[in-house]
Amino acid sequence: MVAAGQLAGMFEYDFPVTLGRDFAGTVDALGDGVEGYSVGDRVFGVVMRSVLHDGSLAEYVTVSQTLGVAPLPTDVGDVEGGAVGLAGSAAIGALDLVTLTGDDTVLIAGATGGVGVIALQFAVKSGATVIATAKPGKEHLVRGLGAQHVVDYTGDIAAQVRAITPSGVQALLHFAGELDPLLDALADGGRLASTRGATQDAVGDRDVTATAVHAAPNTATLGRLASALADGTLTLPVQRRYAFDEVPQAFADFAAGTNGKLAVTVS
Ligand SMILES: NC(=O)c1ccc[n+]([C@@H]2O[C@H](COP(=O)([O-])OP(=O)(O)OC[C@H]3O[C@@H](n4cnc5c(N)ncnc54)[C@H](OP(=O)(O)O)[C@@H]3O)[C@@H](O)[C@H]2O)c1
Repeated sequence: MVAAGQLAGMFEYDFPVTLGRDFAGTVDALGDGVEGYSVGDRVFGVVMRSVLHDGSLAEYVTVSQTLGVAPLPTDVGDVEGGAVGLAGSAAIGALDLVTLTGDDTVLIAGATGGVGVIALQFAVKSGATVIATAKPGKEHLVRGLGAQHVVDYTGDIAAQVRAITPSGVQALLHFAGELDPLLDALADGGRLASTRGATQDAVGDRDVTATAVHAAPNTATLGRLASALADGTLTLPVQRRYAFDEVPQAFADFAAGTNGKLAVTVS
């Protein structure tokens, strides 16, 4: 969205703009007053800026100690750590908003994407029954991550969901597609979290709770992701790795559709 100029009007573009948000690497230098890190420590995180200028497709990044960096455990690879930060923080933010239990059935719209593949695994871990969207040919990805049911997002999602659970789902994670057609899949009293900006205004007079997700890659959230990667609760499907000079190809491939994440090695 940054590269396509789609954030113009919402954020200031301060050119040259370096693309990329997520990163993993080692600490090169510490700012004044920073505690808990040493030069050479392995870290990962997200470059968070209100002005679009800095990015992670670079040899060096600067980040705040409180928002955008956490230690990377020894048993988590650079590629996984470097691909998890923003999508993982969004996934955790969404799950914290809908608080799943083993009695719930949850629909994940966009389950094959970067946020979706992470949220899906945490949802399965919660004990909830998971219905994931995928287009034909991609069912294996979400089934392999633990989804009990798969619905084809190129068809009528709500009808497919109601065929699985006639009373509808208790929770909806909205990571892709239009919200309106998904609302018919949600039971009365249900709750939804949207990374696409949908709030209570978007649900009209339906008896459901809707909240927009704002990813917050603070130390605690990044720590939860690191722990999950380290103990195997979370695996990160990385579809392809690119060298730095292949970044234009990575963007073209991303635009053409991805399963999970694409990773770039900068140095
Ligand atoms: N608010 C925040 O803090 C925050 C943070 C991170 C991301 N986001 C937003 O969250 C959304 C998801 O991010 P992402 O990184 O997961 O994106 P992504 O990697 O591009 O994934 C999107 C996925 O949705 C699938 N898809 C496309 N149309 C669909 C539809 N109509 N119904 C169901 N699935 C559909 C795509 O599958 P195919 O490729 O097979 O078509 C793709 O796997 C984006 O809109 C992103 O901007 C917001």
